[in-house]
Amino acid sequence: MPACSDCSMLIDDRCRAHEKSEADLGRVSPPPPIGGCEVPIVEQYLPLIQAGMRVLEVGCGAWGLIRDRCAAVGAHYEGIDTVQEYFGVKSVATRFENLAELSFADDFFDLVIGNQTMEHWNEYGCRTDWGLYQCFRVCKPGGQVLLNVPIHYHGTRLFLLGDIDKIRDLFTPFSSAVTMESWGKDSGPIAPYYAHPNYSRLKNKSAYNLDIRSVKNRPLPTGYTNKGASSGWKATYLGNPKSYVMHRLLCKLGASSTNYPVPPDQLDRLKALIREQTQASRV
Ligand SMILES: C[S@@+](CC[C@H](N)C(=O)[O-])C[C@H]1O[C@@H](n2cnc3c(N)ncnc32)[C@H](O)[C@@H]1O
Repeated sequence: MPACSDCSMLIDDRCRAHEKSEADLGRVSPPPPIGGCEVPIVEQYLPLIQAGMRVLEVGCGAWGLIRDRCAAVGAHYEGIDTVQEYFGVKSVATRFENLAELSFADDFFDLVIGNQTMEHWNEYGCRTDWGLYQCFRVCKPGGQVLLNVPIHYHGTRLFLLGDIDKIRDLFTPFSSAVTMESWGKDSGPIAPYYAHPNYSRLKNKSAYNLDIRSVKNRPLPTGYTNKGASSGWKATYLGNPKSYVMHRLLCKLGASSTNYPVPPDQLDRLKALIREQTQASRV
């Protein structure tokens, strides 16, 4: 649950969430269902935001829905992001900082929310487990951490391959109350979207969204660090199956094809990294 057929934003067999996403964000979204579910998922977060609460949005980008709800009900909003603009639109962030160096005090927020960001933390120099530690560190005991992510679309290994058990394992040191709900996994009447149909491990795996909700009900564990974090294409290369990186390269070279765009400027960096890694493994 919910399949697209159960979603209130499916009207006349069209994903209105996808249309709203493009209108609200002012840019082209990935095809439905992957590029639509974020809207109803986040709309379901909104009633959780109440007067007097403190809310942190991690990787907020330029989408003001959470900020606006906070303003409407009298909650205090903070947003962080590493970049000033997202697709040419000014970020709604109140602090430009990396989750890896989150500057807020322990036990400060009632809600910590991250929309379509967790799968990228690793690419920005923040290990996924360290980023999650930071979210729970600043969340009050009894507060909630709400994160939605795409599965079988992009991001690092766990999200790309959809290793749901391992994703859940990341949360259990912080919470015994974790729920995971798939959105759009059963997409009918919307056609399933295969982002990587020519990559054998994802050939028959259609992209969908996962809404992960958790309550901070365990003492903050020790032993977490950001050691070993890398960023950019190096993180993408190291954080994904080598077969996937090769597949992306083959697509870029025109020897295979994908429904997922490979940014044109990244071919040279990708080639250089593969060369570097190959040389390192020979030494
Ligand atoms: C796919 S965008 C989503 C933006 C926005 N939440 C939305 O739904 O439109 C991912 C965002 O997460 C931010 N991000 C990724 N890793 C981050 C990190 N380690 N610290 C802070 N922001 C990060 C990126 O800069 C980007 O703005």
